[in-house]
Amino acid sequence: MKQLFFVANWKSYKTTQEASEWFDRFKIQDVGFKNKEVIICPSFTVIPSLKSLIINHKSPIHLGAQDISPFDEGAYTGEVNGKQLKELVDYVLVGHSERRKDFAETDAMLKNKLEQVYHYGLTPILCISEISQLDAVVEVVDTKAIIVAYEPLFAIGSGLPDSSESAEKMAEGIVGKLPQSTVLYGGSVTGANVSSYLEQKTIQGVLVGSASLSPEEFSTIIKHA
Ligand code: PGA
Repeated sequence: MKQLFFVANWKSYKTTQEASEWFDRFKIQDVGFKNKEVIICPSFTVIPSLKSLIINHKSPIHLGAQDISPFDEGAYTGEVNGKQLKELVDYVLVGHSERRKDFAETDAMLKNKLEQVYHYGLTPILCISEISQLDAVVEVVDTKAIIVAYEPLFAIGSGLPDSSESAEKMAEGIVGKLPQSTVLYGGSVTGANVSSYLEQKTIQGVLVGSASLSPEEFSTIIKHA
C-alpha cells in the first residue's frame, strides 16, 4: 500500500483560538492514519500552540511552515529562519504561486530557501505550476528528498480542479526530472474529487487549501482516500 500525504495549507487564516477549535473538531472525526501522513501548515504565530496540542494529545499530525527565510539567522527584520523552524516543524512549503505572484519571489530566492530547508534537515514541499519551474532547483535538490506539489494556477481557489489524467501526466513529468520526488496534486481538492487523484499511479497525495480550513471537510478528504 502506498504512503499517502495530506497537506493542509491554511494560508493567512486562523488565529491560535480558531486553530485550537479546528484541532478539537478534527480529532473527534476519528480519521484513520495508517499509511497516511497528515501535515498542517499554519501561520507562524499558530505553530507553537498547535504543536503543544499535538504533543499533549499524542496526535500523529505533522507540522509544516508556509515559508522560510532565504537567509540564515542574522539582521533580517521580519524573517523566520530555518534554525527557528527546526524547533517546531518537519516540513516547509516553498515556491507557492501566491508567493511568486504577490511577493515577487524569484528563482534565486527559491534556491536560497531550499538550501536553508536542507541545511536544517527539514523536508521541502515545493509547489510548481509548470514542469519547467523545476529547472531552477534541480541542482540544489540533486538526489535529496523532496515533495513536489503540482498546482495549476487556474485550479487554485477556483473550484475548477485539473483532471486527474492531466495531473497524473504532470506527476510523471516531475518524476522524470526528479525521480526521488513524492508528487502531490493541489488545486480545488475536495472530499468529492480526492480519490480520482489518489487512484493515479504516480500521485501520492494532495495539497489542500480552502477545504482544509474545515476540520470536517479535511477529515472527509483523508477518509475518502
Ligand atoms: P485550494 O488551494 O485547495 O483552495 O485550491 C490550494 C493551494 O493553494 O495550495
